[in-house]
Amino acid sequence: LPKQPLKGRHVLVTAGPTREPIDPVRAITNHSSGRQGYAIAEVLAEAGARVTLVSGPTALPAPPGCTRIDVETAREMLAACESALPADAAICVAAVADWRVREASATKLKKRPDASPPTLTLEANPDILATLAAHIERPSLVIGFAAETGDVVREATAKRARKGCDWIVANDVSPGTTTFGGARNQVDVIDENGCEVWPELDKHAVARRLVARMVEWFASRKGQ
Ligand code: C5P
Repeated sequence: LPKQPLKGRHVLVTAGPTREPIDPVRAITNHSSGRQGYAIAEVLAEAGARVTLVSGPTALPAPPGCTRIDVETAREMLAACESALPADAAICVAAVADWRVREASATKLKKRPDASPPTLTLEANPDILATLAAHIERPSLVIGFAAETGDVVREATAKRARKGCDWIVANDVSPGTTTFGGARNQVDVIDENGCEVWPELDKHAVARRLVARMVEWFASRKGQ
């Protein structure tokens, strides 16, 4: 096997949470650690790819060999992704906040003993995965993640169709599982042929297996 099977390929990875401001000191965010996305970026770089890692706020160092672009909001993440195109593949691992505060306050919201608490009006954020999958410069391979509870495969299959991506990597985040922030991950990979069940692996092993699958996918399309 070639040592750098993805040499010459540009791969875009989103990772981490987004942070949507309420005012200069408060925000809406989530508990994504960024670990899975960073692991994928690191393995892609080891495989020789040029990697653009568009990352929300995390505590992680940039993986060696990756170009990291730091963003806070979903809109910033989308803009950074679009600026990074063209890419051969895009892997959206980020836990993007579904909503942002319609009009974030430029000044700190004040707590006044006599006044009722403020009401936050939310509006939808752009869907970065769906936008990249429908983009005029669509990467050849677009991969999404899906954190589901209940009928994981059914939900993820529907999500693949809705988002227009090629593969969905689905994991079960039901209570009792420790995917979020944890080191291990059990995923199913859904593509046009159906569902592949992977064993529980640590996030680096999931990354290695996913990158190996990408290498195969690119190799099988050579000359087409
Ligand atoms: O719709 P849902 O959030 O479950 O979809 C998850 C997948 O979509 C992940 O790959 C995530 O990175 C991506 N996503 C996105 N932009 C959003 C919401 C989700 O790229 N606004």
